[in-house]
Amino acid sequence: KIKACLFDLDGVIVDTAVYHFQAWRRLANELGFDFTEHQNEQLKGISRMESLELILKWGNVTLTEAEKLAWATRKNDWYLDLVKLMTPKEVLPGVEKFLTDLREAGIKIALGSASKNSKLILERINMLDYFDAIIDGNNITKGKPDPQVFLMGAEATGSLPSECVVFEDAVAGIQAAKAGGMKAIGVGAADILTEADFVIAGFEEMTLDKLNF
Ligand code: BG6
Ligand code: MG
Repeated sequence: KIKACLFDLDGVIVDTAVYHFQAWRRLANELGFDFTEHQNEQLKGISRMESLELILKWGNVTLTEAEKLAWATRKNDWYLDLVKLMTPKEVLPGVEKFLTDLREAGIKIALGSASKNSKLILERINMLDYFDAIIDGNNITKGKPDPQVFLMGAEATGSLPSECVVFEDAVAGIQAAKAGGMKAIGVGAADILTEADFVIAGFEEMTLDKLNF
């Protein structure tokens, strides 16, 4: 029986994935190249510095460690400029209803995100109160597809991995959930999230009875 639901943040609760894409693209453009939305899929779920490494590889750009840190900071500043404009209206459709249903059913809710900005974002969209536990980029040493973030989330809610369902929009996140022995529901496109147990296009499709499968 499912005791906890673990949610990724970016692209699952809220569509910050588009803001990340915009900010990374600006970085690439300023360094003299571009990348596609298709390539952007690979950036979902992985950390800021890992994302930067991948993008630099795509652009064939070599930087010193200090330069990398400076560009990562610049990207985060651009990203936060977009985040600051966010409102609770940007919570993805069906999310609040589903979280309210979970709460009423006594199912724990945790966040499992690679982001170091997760609390700031949850504050902006007025959703901090829904979460029994928040595990994010500030707490982990190993990023997705390593299961660490979700294993910590399970533990924080007093649940076994087999009692948890993970909601993820990233391939790396689905892999992390599976590596941790959890059920994984993809949020997004079924042709991309092929390793998920099943995929929903959004939370309007999600109901409590779909949790125990
Ligand atoms: C993940 C996003 O949730 O967090 C990635 O899917 C992002 O795109 C990563 O790079 C790190 O986020 P932040 O906010 O710490 O730069
Ligand atoms: Mg995500």
